Amino acid sequence: MSRKVINLDENELPKQWYNILPDLPRPLPPPVDPSTKQPVDPAKLERIFAKELIKQELSPERWIPIPDEIRDVYRIWRPTPLIRAERLEKFLKTPARIYYKWEGVSPPGSHKPNTAVAQAYYNMKEGIERLTTETGAGQWGSALSFACNLFGLKCSVYMVRISYEQKPARKVLMRSWGADVVPSPSDRTNFGRKLLQENPNHPGSLGIAISEALEDCVTHDNTRYSLGSVLNHVLMHQTVQGLEAKKQLEQIEEYPDIVAGCVGGGSSFSGLFWPFYYDIVSGKAPKPVKIVGTEPISCPTMTKGIYTYDFGDTAKMTPLLPMYTLGSDFIPPPIHAGGLRYHGDAPTLCLLLSEGKIEPRAYDQISVFDAAVTFARTEGFLPGPEPAHTIKFVIDEALRCKTTGEEKVILFNLCGHGYFDLSAYEAYFDGKLQPFDYPEEEVKKSLEKLKQDLPWIEEVRKQFIGA
Ligand SMILES: Cc1ncc(COP(=O)(O)O)c(C=O)c1O
Repeated sequence: MSRKVINLDENELPKQWYNILPDLPRPLPPPVDPSTKQPVDPAKLERIFAKELIKQELSPERWIPIPDEIRDVYRIWRPTPLIRAERLEKFLKTPARIYYKWEGVSPPGSHKPNTAVAQAYYNMKEGIERLTTETGAGQWGSALSFACNLFGLKCSVYMVRISYEQKPARKVLMRSWGADVVPSPSDRTNFGRKLLQENPNHPGSLGIAISEALEDCVTHDNTRYSLGSVLNHVLMHQTVQGLEAKKQLEQIEEYPDIVAGCVGGGSSFSGLFWPFYYDIVSGKAPKPVKIVGTEPISCPTMTKGIYTYDFGDTAKMTPLLPMYTLGSDFIPPPIHAGGLRYHGDAPTLCLLLSEGKIEPRAYDQISVFDAAVTFARTEGFLPGPEPAHTIKFVIDEALRCKTTGEEKVILFNLCGHGYFDLSAYEAYFDGKLQPFDYPEEEVKKSLEKLKQDLPWIEEVRKQFIGA
C-alpha cells in the first residue's frame, strides 16, 4: 500500500535556508531609489528593516544557517506533513500521483510564520521593540502577531478594511496573540486620514496598508517594518517547505514532474519550488520539472502585468522594485482570495517568469471554489482560497493526464487552511460569487499614470531590466 502521510523526524528540520540569488539565470535588477534613480543604498533601509534581514536580502551566499532559536520555534509545527492526495486521485480517476505539502498545521494556519518567526527573532536580537505591518487576508498579520508574541515584541497590524469587515475572526486571533489591529485606511497615519477624507468607506488595498505601516514605522522610535512576501529574504525563509518536501519525496523514491503554487507576492510558491530549481540548475534533478504559478484573473500580475519598475505601495514610499505590476494605484476587485490581491510580485519570481522558467496560470474565483470543494469532499481539509487556485490547476492537470495516460508526479503546497474563510465559502454556496476579470485597459491606465508621475521610469527600466 502506498503511504498517505509522509512525515519527517524533528531532527530532520532543515539547518539552512536556500538562497536563489547566486543561481538566477542573470543578476537580479536592483531596487532603485526614486530620488537618485540609482540602486538603493542599503544603509538607507536600516531605518525600516533589521540589519541582518538587509544582509540576507543582498547575500550572495547560497546557504544561510537557521539560528537554533528559530528552529526551536519551528519545532512547534515543523516539519510539516507531505500528504498524498490519493482520494482526490481516485475521484478524478487519474494516473497522476498528487502530493501536497500541508502548511495549514502552523498555529496561525499558513506558511507565513516560516518568515514571521525569523523576522521577529532578528528584530528582537537588534533591540527593536515594535514591528508594524499590513495584512490582506489576515494570514500574514496573524503570523507576525504570533511571532512577535513569542519574542516579546509589540505588533501593529494595518488590515485592509474590506478584509477587516469580511473576516472579523482573523482580527480576534491577532488580538489573542497581543497585536494591535486597525482597519486600513485608518486615522493613525497622514496617508490614511487623507484617503478617509476623500472616501470614508474606502475598501483599502494591500498597497495602502503597506504605506500606512511604513509611515507608522518611520515616525516612531525603535520600530521596524516587516513584510510578509515579495522580498528575497522573505522567500528564502520559506524554503524550509521545499527542502523538507524534497526529503519526504526521497523517502518514497518520488520526484516531481510538476511543482505548483499560488502567487500573491510569491513567497509560498517560491518556498516550495526554489529547492527544486536548485536541483535543475545544479544538474541534480533526475528529470525535467515544470514550475507552475497560479493567480486570480481578477489580479493577474503574472499573466497581464507589465515588467517594469514600480513602487511596492500606494503612497510611493518604498524603493522602486523590478516586477510584473498592475500599477501601484491598482485597487483590486473584492475577490475572496484576499492574499492574492497585491499589484506586483517578488522580483526574483518576475525575473524567472521573464526568462520563461515559470508557467503562469490564471483562474476565476468560481472555478477555484469548485476545485476547493472537490478537494474538501475528497481529502477532507478545507483549503484557503489562495491555494485553491493551485488545486484548480492540479485537478485540470490530473484530468489531462487521464486522457493521455501520463503518470505525472504533481507536487503543490496547500499553504493555508480555509477555516477563517467561511464567509467566502458561504457566498460561493449561495451563488453570490462573481467571476471577475481584470480588464487590460485598467492595467494600461494605471501604468500610464506611473509614466506620467515618473517620466524617467522607462529609462530606469531599460538600464536595469534591459530591453
Ligand atoms: C494562505 C495564503 N497563501 C498565499 C498567500 C499569498 O502570498 P504569497 O504569494 O507571498 O505566498 C497568502 C497571503 O496572505 C496566504 O495567506
